[in-house]
Amino acid sequence: MEKIKVFAPASVANLGCGYDTIGFAVESIGEELTLTKRNDSKLVIDEILGADLSKDPDQNVATIAIKALLSQLASDQGFDISIQKFFKPGSGLGSSASSASGAVFAANELLGNPFSRNELLPFALEGEAFASKCYHADNVAPSLLGGFQVVRSYEPLDLFQISTDIELKVLIIFPHVQIKTAESKKMLPSEVSVSLARNQWGNVAALIHALHDKDYSLLKRSIEDFIAEPVRSQFIPFYDDVKQIVDEAGSVGFNISGSGPSMFALFRDDGGVETAIDKIENLYLNSDFDFSLYRTSIDLQGCRII
Ligand code: HSE
Repeated sequence: MEKIKVFAPASVANLGCGYDTIGFAVESIGEELTLTKRNDSKLVIDEILGADLSKDPDQNVATIAIKALLSQLASDQGFDISIQKFFKPGSGLGSSASSASGAVFAANELLGNPFSRNELLPFALEGEAFASKCYHADNVAPSLLGGFQVVRSYEPLDLFQISTDIELKVLIIFPHVQIKTAESKKMLPSEVSVSLARNQWGNVAALIHALHDKDYSLLKRSIEDFIAEPVRSQFIPFYDDVKQIVDEAGSVGFNISGSGPSMFALFRDDGGVETAIDKIENLYLNSDFDFSLYRTSIDLQGCRII
């Protein structure tokens, strides 16, 4: 194979209480990457549509991730790369992760699959780390592998997929302000008390159980985050209003997507989503903020050839 086009999904990281440890991939939102083998060892980004990102191979997460993969193989294969983004970097939906994941997935396919999907994670993480200034895998893991992914440990890297067939409607609310993950991480407390950590541990354990057992009431109670949400929600326009609207519309979970500004709300049925959309549209239309709403669901596939 000389050329390949892949889709890499966007992702919702943290899932409330699971800071840097839990994330899920979202259906239909994401980006397309086209890779073509070159006859030399260059990595050339020909085109980036839908986002204003660097084409310098040393400054783009896609090529940084591919370089990590090629280095492990001691390969000097070059690629031409085109990227079409369908969502905005800095929106809290894992833009750097989808680029890094899609790039290594595509390169691996063109090289005859020397690595399994799981083995691609450290390479995708190199790209993510360049953008976020931190090795966090709660976006790259779901983007690459699909479903709900949990990072049990970073050293060594140890992940698992939450075994669940829970059906959830997902509403993403994106007020058009940009929040950089690297900046947002710096604002979080470097230490937390044992009593706060105890509340967080309880919620994380309960959240995993709720997803596995399809216990919607427990899901709603346990998604609350005591560490990042109180800090980050202050930078998200109308966070408390949106939270109240989705609550009244019957959501079974709500929180910040990644480091924001996007928020996600989980519902059991379309009726709740529609009620929430009407009210959120009114809220932002009466303000100075542009916004986007995405109706989606959990993506189970992760990166795929298209
Ligand atoms: N886990 C990361 C954070 C996700 O919350 O900083 C960023 O998308």
